[in-house]
Order: sequence, then C-alpha cells, then structure tokens
Amino acid sequence: MSHIITYRPEIEMDIQHVFKTAMQRFPAAVTLVATRSHEGASGLTATAVCSLSADPPSLLICVNRSASAHDSILESGIVGVSLLPHDDEAFADRFSKAKGSDRFQPEEEWTTLITGAPVYRNAAVAFDCRTTQVSPAYTHSVIFAEVVAIRVGEEGEQGCLMWHGKGFARLAAAQPMLNTAAPPA
Ligand SMILES: Cc1cc2nc3c(=O)[nH]c(=O)nc-3n(C[C@H](O)[C@H](O)[C@H](O)COP(=O)(O)O)c2cc1C
Repeated sequence: MSHIITYRPEIEMDIQHVFKTAMQRFPAAVTLVATRSHEGASGLTATAVCSLSADPPSLLICVNRSASAHDSILESGIVGVSLLPHDDEAFADRFSKAKGSDRFQPEEEWTTLITGAPVYRNAAVAFDCRTTQVSPAYTHSVIFAEVVAIRVGEEGEQGCLMWHGKGFARLAAAQPMLNTAAPPA
C-alpha cells in the first residue's frame, strides 16, 4: 500500500522533514565539485548541479555556505565538476568521508584541464569552469559557472552514479528506446 505524506500548512507538521523525505524520491546525478586555491585543493560531493545555458555553456551549482570548500570556490573563481561513472560508488564514498585536501589523494586520480581546478580522471564527464556570478540563497550560494573545457569519458561508458533514496544507485548506459509506435500502413 502506498504511503502518502501530504503537507498542508494548517496541519502542524515539520515541512523541512517532509521536504527531505520528498527529495529522497528525486534521483540526482552525483558530482564532485572541486577547486584549487592558495590553500590547496578542496571540494565536496554535490547533486545540486544542473545545466544553465548552452550559450555560453554554463552550469548552476548550489553550495552550502557551511561546506568547507565554499569560500575557496568563491575566492578562486575556478571550479571543476566531475560526474561520477555508474560503478564508482567506492570512490564516491571515500571522497565524501575524507576531509579537506585528503579528498584528493592519491593525486594520480585527479587531473586539470585549463583553469587548474581539479577534475576526476575517471569521470564520466568533467567540466572545467570559471565562476561568473554568485547569488546567496537561504543556506546556499548559487554559483553561475561558465564552462571553458569539457572532458568526456570513454565511449560506451555513458552511465553515471545517481543518488536516490538514501544511497547511491547505478544508472548504467541507457539502452535505445524500443519503437513501440505502429509502423506506417
Ligand atoms: C550525495 C550527496 C549530495 C550532496 N549534494 C550537495 C550539494 O549539492 N550541495 C552542497 O552544498 N552539499 C551537498 N552535499 C553535502 C556535501 O557534500 C558535504 O557533505 C558537506 O559540504 C560537508 O563537507 P565538509 O566536511 O567539507 O564541510 C551532498 C552530500 C552527498 C552525500
């Protein structure tokens, strides 16, 4: 039987709790957002990343102001966004649990493109960006990031790692949709 939580303002209920439960239904691709400042490399796991525009190529990245990498991203003005491949939850877990620059060990797992921001060598796709605008919003900074270089992973490895429910979920390379439409008479 389905269990539906309905939020109505007249009912005494913690909307933040309901929101968090609702967002568990919302699958999102797992990225590693990283920068390099005079203090070294820093970063965070982030799902609040989406395409903004193709002209110019740009992304929106939402970073909590409490994140240890937040100030460095804003100060450096450069950011790498690496989409994790579908079978890399071990790395995702290790990156999340590590702190500070330890997240970037061993160094061989990281590279740079143009700006010098770290991108994950094994990424399904990696974007190298310069930040052009930052809008404070509630607990977060919404970062406008203009893409200056893109590194696409191996052909055929088009899946990615997702976050769904309370954990990682693998999205293997999508199969072409079967054409179920009736053939023309
Ligand atoms: C799957 C997942 C997605 C996350 N997405 C975001 C996000 O989009 N933005 C954000 O600010 N923090 C996000 N976080 C939290 C940060 O990755 C990180 O845990 C937090 O900033 C604390 O890191 P710190 O110890 O470096 O401060 C996410 C965490 C996980 C596990």
